[in-house]
Amino acid sequence: MASSDISDASQLSAQIESASGAALAAISTALDAEALRAISAELAGKKSSIAVLKSQLGKIDDIESRKTAGRLINAASEAIAVALEERLASLSARDLALQVSSEPLDLTELATLNRRGYEHIVSQAQQRLEDVFIGLGFQIAEGPEVETDFYNFEALNMPKSHPARSEFDTIFLNSGEPNSILLRTHTSPVQIRVMQTWEPPIYAIMPGRVFRRDTPDATHMPVFHQIEGLVIDRGITFAHLAGTIEAFTKAFFGAEFTSRLRPSFFPFTEPSAEFDIRQKDGNWIELGGCGMVHPNVLRAGGIDPDEFTGFAFGFGIDRMAKERHNVQDIREMYTNDLRFVRQFS
Ligand code: PHE
Repeated sequence: MASSDISDASQLSAQIESASGAALAAISTALDAEALRAISAELAGKKSSIAVLKSQLGKIDDIESRKTAGRLINAASEAIAVALEERLASLSARDLALQVSSEPLDLTELATLNRRGYEHIVSQAQQRLEDVFIGLGFQIAEGPEVETDFYNFEALNMPKSHPARSEFDTIFLNSGEPNSILLRTHTSPVQIRVMQTWEPPIYAIMPGRVFRRDTPDATHMPVFHQIEGLVIDRGITFAHLAGTIEAFTKAFFGAEFTSRLRPSFFPFTEPSAEFDIRQKDGNWIELGGCGMVHPNVLRAGGIDPDEFTGFAFGFGIDRMAKERHNVQDIREMYTNDLRFVRQFS
């Protein structure tokens, strides 16, 4: 506060100087916008040193000295107003920056938009199976999901009246001759297509979607996935089949797993077997079917059974994914619930 009794102009200008200096110092050291607003209010008040000095201008008798002092006070007020404005701007910017860094922005929505997709566990299983078989020297082949009776049955040694046809619960399409166009019930028709278009030696796997008229329950779906294996070469024996199944079992499930073959029947293989796998001292798990390619099937594929022999195997991929991830109900795998898929990223 200025002293109340001023008559001397030079004394007044010294007081203006010191009052404005003090005000500018207070402004530049204000810690935040709130403190600055308090300083600003005080400076604007009637009791501020500048206001008090202003009110004493009239006591200066000399007109010129009064004018000079008035200009000094105006200049000081101006400088103070500018300083207040600048400081407020810089404190506000700093406060905003502080707020931004102390309160992390909620970017979850952005994160959702940018989230990478996860592969379905059946796709994951299929890819691992492909990797293992490629490592064993196999090539991948694919065929159509809509098939003819010839490829799905006839060429696989199942003529029209064959009783095994009824086991396949075929979904026929309303197209062409009645019961002639269908959704493939297994991946075995791709064997025929591969034999017809490739030259032996053939070492192929054929993964894909298959369809059967089935009511969905915990272990069955009308649409599921199989992987087929086909080897055609000179001198291929049942021992090669057993050895390949064993090599696959160890490569895919781990060295502590073994496989076994049980006699079975399929129209397209002779002899035929089913194969199971198990971990040391564990239970046997049924995996799929296999056997030596039937001579009729080789002939349908345009291959001379006197020159070449071969073996084939096939099994379900969905079942494997279900076992591996301990999924209780296979239907859960097809509800399209992202929360389900994301568990297995
Ligand atoms: N295609 C048979 C099935 O779906 C499996 C199989 C394939 C059996 C190849 C033997 C040889 O049941």
